[in-house]
Amino acid sequence: MKLLEQAITERGKVIGSDILLVDTFLNHQVDVSLMQEIGKCFAERFRAEKIDRVATIESSGIAPAAFTALCLEVPLVIMKKQASRILTGDLLATTVRSFTKGTQYDLTAKRDFLPSGDRVLFIDDFLASGEAAFGAKKLIESAGAVLAGVGIVIEKSFQSGPERLEKEGIPLYSLARIASMEDGKIVFR
Ligand code: G4P
Repeated sequence: MKLLEQAITERGKVIGSDILLVDTFLNHQVDVSLMQEIGKCFAERFRAEKIDRVATIESSGIAPAAFTALCLEVPLVIMKKQASRILTGDLLATTVRSFTKGTQYDLTAKRDFLPSGDRVLFIDDFLASGEAAFGAKKLIESAGAVLAGVGIVIEKSFQSGPERLEKEGIPLYSLARIASMEDGKIVFR
């Protein structure tokens, strides 16, 4: 997606050789018109897949996922990272490790919001080693729903996530694919 590659090049900032800061338009300040275009692209790619609902993980996946759900005219389910006293009922849970941040969290969602048999499109901001996507897959499948596809705003193709998803046969569609970020220079695939 040219518009996104342009935003990454002009408004992104490379930290070291593997972290891209995009807080100017994606995960702190949000460029909502860019998010709307992103939503349209994901919807176009996955419209034929008969998606029943879009899912994401709080917080940075919410903006692109919301516009995708709007375009597909389906509900958006936000999987939670934080335990809450008011999040009760039949909860699905799994642990997700973040290699980038060196943390881990319990990913949870209400079973009612992932009905058995539903076809779910998972949308996220970054794909690095794929842990978030596999955590989401686990929750979706434990509810008897189907992971119909994964839509990623920025794929770091030099990390293991894309290959891991491909090996599992999970349809992956990334709008920007970064081959390398050596010496602060972003090279797209
Ligand atoms: P993985 O899910 O693909 O395995 O990724 P990993 O665990 O390595 O990274 C998890 C967190 O780090 C995610 O944020 C992800 O968006 C973020 N992340 C990964 N690579 C980059 C990067 O190059 N730049 C930025 N800005 N973030 C990156 P999170 O913990 O879920 O936080 P949130 O922002 O969604 O709240």
